[in-house]
Amino acid sequence: MGDFTWKPEYSVGDSHLDMQHQGLIELIDMLDDSANMGDVLERLEVYVDEHFRDEEGMLQKAGYPDLAAHRQQHKAFEEWLAVSRRAFREPEVSAMLRESIRAYLKSWLVNHILVSDKDYASWLD
Ligand SMILES: [Fe+2]
Repeated sequence: MGDFTWKPEYSVGDSHLDMQHQGLIELIDMLDDSANMGDVLERLEVYVDEHFRDEEGMLQKAGYPDLAAHRQQHKAFEEWLAVSRRAFREPEVSAMLRESIRAYLKSWLVNHILVSDKDYASWLD
């Protein structure tokens, strides 16, 4: 078990989105083992495709007023992921990259999921 575990107060008020957010925490935990790096980056790609699409679709339907800004944050994550996947192919940067990927994902959890995502929770009721 890594540094992060799911807590009920992380809930954004939708069980499907909560489950996807828990999936991200599991991916962060997987990075404790450096051998998982390539696998985690690949799963993140799937995570981003499915989760951001689902979340943005629900927010659009709910009429969430800050959707455009929220989309920008998702887009920034997607760009970060594309750069990280390219960098991973360079063997000499892997160890440093793993630490930087962990740090980015943890800050994403704290700043995006626990702040920006929590912000739309009341719109999904
Ligand atoms: Fe989000």
